[in-house]
Amino acid sequence: MFDIYNRKIDYIRISVTDRCNLRCIYCMPEKGIQSIDHKDILSYEEIIYLCENFAKIGISKIKITGGEPLVRDNLAYLIKKIKSIQGINNVTLTTNGILLEEQIDSLVKSGLDAVNVSIDSLDEIAYKSITRIGDVNKVMRGINKTLKYKHIVVKVNCVPIAGVNDEQILDITKMAQNKNISIRFIELMPIGLGKKIKGISEDRIKMIIEENFGKLTVFNKSIGNGPSNYYSLDNFQGKIGFISAVSHKFCEKCNRARLTSNGFLKTCLQYSEGQNLNTLIRSGKNDEEIIEIIKKTIYNKPRENRFLEAEDYENFEQNIMSQIGG
Ligand code: 5AD
Ligand code: SF4
Repeated sequence: MFDIYNRKIDYIRISVTDRCNLRCIYCMPEKGIQSIDHKDILSYEEIIYLCENFAKIGISKIKITGGEPLVRDNLAYLIKKIKSIQGINNVTLTTNGILLEEQIDSLVKSGLDAVNVSIDSLDEIAYKSITRIGDVNKVMRGINKTLKYKHIVVKVNCVPIAGVNDEQILDITKMAQNKNISIRFIELMPIGLGKKIKGISEDRIKMIIEENFGKLTVFNKSIGNGPSNYYSLDNFQGKIGFISAVSHKFCEKCNRARLTSNGFLKTCLQYSEGQNLNTLIRSGKNDEEIIEIIKKTIYNKPRENRFLEAEDYENFEQNIMSQIGG
């Protein structure tokens, strides 16, 4: 379907849990957060029902996110069911990779198309200082095992943070040299705990990469569903991408909506606007009514983010990233 600004919306990010087995400094407080009550989390059956309705309005691509999606039991079952819905042709996953090694075989069997792994540093100590509790070796084993499946697209997400993992930008870039992995450097967004931390600009990262690996050449094709601008480097297998919602905002090309784990249909990352679908489906509204409400909500998607404006508007998102799904 198209929204009020004539953007084609064909992609939804579905968060299946707000829980996580890491505590990244820009995302979660050290002690964690009060998790959403189990009874308020959408069941797999409810998510599948909503996906059937999303497909009917023209959503064809689904990304499963969290928190950390792999901490929810039997995620492969959900993926298999979503993949079998008529009209859905691409189901992908964003994960921190800690549980990937154990689960990738069943995820691939379920029909998963691609995996994005968040990894902010390859250095054990720096990785731990960002995630507080994670073991980067586990993540690397998960990535290497995933790469054995040639049809699965693998991408790495890295959020550069000033004074924390700047030194790691080159090592992360190098992952794309001899492996078919695309790297995406994500600009830190001022959402949740991200408001208190300083990221590194796209221009600065490009400079660091070019000083060491030569010219970044614009790569015009898109890879996957996202807003990343990709570049090639000579003698690199994978591409290098940038997702810079603040310095290079891409709102006019935005194709997405989000569903939180408690069933809130969210139309823009920065605003609290949207519609609680959980209460609607549990109150017994019929399919037609639900579809109409979904369409109306998506149609009214906000025009653009206002990350560069200093004020905190009342309708700005107050949740932290693990509750939204990134
Ligand atoms: N800004 C940018 N990216 C973020 N992520 C989490 N919080 C933020 C933030 N404030 C990233 C994670 C993960 C993806 C889903 O979102 O690192 O890669
Ligand atoms: Fe967990 Fe991802 Fe948040 Fe890190 S960024 S704490 S891995 S949800």
